[in-house]
Amino acid sequence: MSVIHIQGMQSLNGTILIQGSKNAVLPVMAASLLHRGVTVLTNVPGIQDVFCMMGILESMGCCCRLDGRCLTIDASRADRPRVPEGLAGQMRSSVMLLGPMLGRFGEGATSHPGGCLIGSRPIDLHLSGLEALGAKVELAGGTVRVEAGPGGLTGREIALGYPSVGATENIVMAAAAARGTTVLIGAAREPEIETLCRFLQAAGAEIRGIGTGCLRITGCARFRDTVFAIPGDRIVAGTYLGAVMAAGGSVFLKGAPAGHMEANLRLAREMGAGIRIREDGGGIDASMDGRAKAASFSTGPYPGFPTDLQSVMMAVAAAGVGRSRIQETVFENRFSTAKELQNLGAHIIIDGRTALVDGRSPLRGGKVRAADLRGGAALVVAGLAAAGEVEVSGCGHIRRGYEDICRDLKEAGARIWMEEGAACEGRGGES
Ligand code: UD1
Repeated sequence: MSVIHIQGMQSLNGTILIQGSKNAVLPVMAASLLHRGVTVLTNVPGIQDVFCMMGILESMGCCCRLDGRCLTIDASRADRPRVPEGLAGQMRSSVMLLGPMLGRFGEGATSHPGGCLIGSRPIDLHLSGLEALGAKVELAGGTVRVEAGPGGLTGREIALGYPSVGATENIVMAAAAARGTTVLIGAAREPEIETLCRFLQAAGAEIRGIGTGCLRITGCARFRDTVFAIPGDRIVAGTYLGAVMAAGGSVFLKGAPAGHMEANLRLAREMGAGIRIREDGGGIDASMDGRAKAASFSTGPYPGFPTDLQSVMMAVAAAGVGRSRIQETVFENRFSTAKELQNLGAHIIIDGRTALVDGRSPLRGGKVRAADLRGGAALVVAGLAAAGEVEVSGCGHIRRGYEDICRDLKEAGARIWMEEGAACEGRGGES
């Protein structure tokens, strides 16, 4: 078991390079299956979920090669429309292969996906969307099967009852290979969906309304070879912004996609951070003097505050001064990190979907365990503000989404290191 050790109370200074976005690269990798040819992706992060998605694509007959940050996917000989059970269990994103499998093979199957323990995470919106395009869906013994039937998929109007990110992506990918035009109303507007649409456009699909809640997708019979750059990860950038706010100091977040971090930057400013967005689009200068001020916020679909950064900002609030109130509206179980923060001396009361955080004395050292990806990163952020050594176990979760959180923070002067253990214990899923 690997453990991260942090000796906090050391301010951060310097530059941290922000990796490519996990939540953007995974659906784009899935979409590459639609094309009987070669897709080249640049700025790909070297994270566990990417390796897992490469494994899934290879099991389907694709050939994947990762050279540094450049990933080549040759899907010309893909012929097995099934996500192997072991890999589906490791990553909830495996469900996003359903749309591409339907588009490419006219059928597909996966086990009910795994995932971080942050709520019930149903997939009803994915399935009803695919059904609306003409797929038959069958659920039996933990396996989801989809089949397009002899006529293939046909575009039509679909209204989503909730702007689910994954369901939007699945429907967009299936629609990109369907006959005719699909109008998707109530689509999620997360920047990662914009990235997926831009990729599909580059590969040959016609998509209008990108960035809005209403997408018009006209399917494409033949896709083309594409070279595509994955944008910087707004959640990783927000995590390191949280790290500066917890530890104090001044850091250039190089490659942070400021234009997609409005809610995050607004909250950071309210809590006392100095934020300067570089005009050349190169990133964000973030600074913090003293402990963070209290603030209240609620998570919500984009452009609301991202649920993926809720636990990080809870850690910042717990290390700060004054009373903060946090509401989680997206995933009901996303407060599990609060209990671990309490082990570091945080004062947090959970009442349903609301957390009351009372910043008092500085956090103290202790042993804590990451229960999910972003919760694990939040514990590292808390460790940077603690008086005494913090040990975070369950680091396999963190590796799913951060290339090397210790390397990045050490780069800015943090006293942090990984004690490698036998196995990587994180299960898949996302957050
Ligand atoms: C994606 C992100 C995840 C982020 C989340 C919300 C990836 C790989 N993961 O997850 O990091 O936290 O968006 O921004 O991009 N829901 C249903 N039925 C469905 C689908 C979802 O009820 O069929 C509900 C979920 O239970 C949850 C809410 O919708 O309460 C949001 O889920 P969704 O937007 O689908 O998140 P994911 O795509 O799983």
